[in-house]
Amino acid sequence: MTKNLRLGINIDHVATLRNARGGENPCPVRAAELCKEAGADGITAHLREDRRHIRDRDIERLKNEIALPLNLEMAMTDEMLSIALKTMPHAVCLVPEKREELTTEGGLDAARYEKQIAPFVQKLQDAGIRVSLFIAPSHEQIHAAQRIGARAIEIHTGAYCHLLGAAREKERHAISEAAILAHGLGLEVHAGHGLNYNNVGAIAAIPEIIELNIGHFIIGEAVFVGIKEAIVAMRRIIHESRATSHESR
Ligand code: PXP
Repeated sequence: MTKNLRLGINIDHVATLRNARGGENPCPVRAAELCKEAGADGITAHLREDRRHIRDRDIERLKNEIALPLNLEMAMTDEMLSIALKTMPHAVCLVPEKREELTTEGGLDAARYEKQIAPFVQKLQDAGIRVSLFIAPSHEQIHAAQRIGARAIEIHTGAYCHLLGAAREKERHAISEAAILAHGLGLEVHAGHGLNYNNVGAIAAIPEIIELNIGHFIIGEAVFVGIKEAIVAMRRIIHESRATSHESR
């Protein structure tokens, strides 16, 4: 198991700020360049059906101008499939999408929609794009992801981040068990959603998780300290909890 943990920065909310006034600023591509300079391992961007933040042109530019792997988050629609196959990002993360939600509220129901998801994943992976499924830390969903043939899963940490006390610890335990199961089945294990300086440590300490994708908190923090400093601080916390967990396992 690797000690390293890749950090992908989701830059959607730089585009949210830009779109609040129209025009070009602040530019998500410039943000991605700064993420690279700060040592990020990848850039994540969610092209939503309603284009509320990231737009088609952003995806094209992120792919062509930024020398970091691009992880395109998208819903399972024909439109998104053709954009992905045209753009050829390093990776695609399949997420469920509801128009009315503020952010991705739940995981993909891979168990229920296995038959529809499998051919979709295969088209992307046949083209050489690594696919992850954004799912809840449930054993049923993980077994479905394996049957589907996805290379990776991204465990939804949103519930863990919102809970407190014993309920949070129970959810963290579920995430850890899910990560162990998925890793044992040969899936790459990623995690993300709602992570911040206070809650990231316990997730980073799970050795089976090899990638975290973090957006909203880092972009918010960047308003105060700049994006580089926010990433460096996040990285430090991740590194420290990862180092301690490897000593203890
Ligand atoms: N991973 C996935 C699949 C997501 O949909 C999101 C939110 O777009 C994130 C990670 C990042 O979540 P946050 O912005 O809360 O850090």
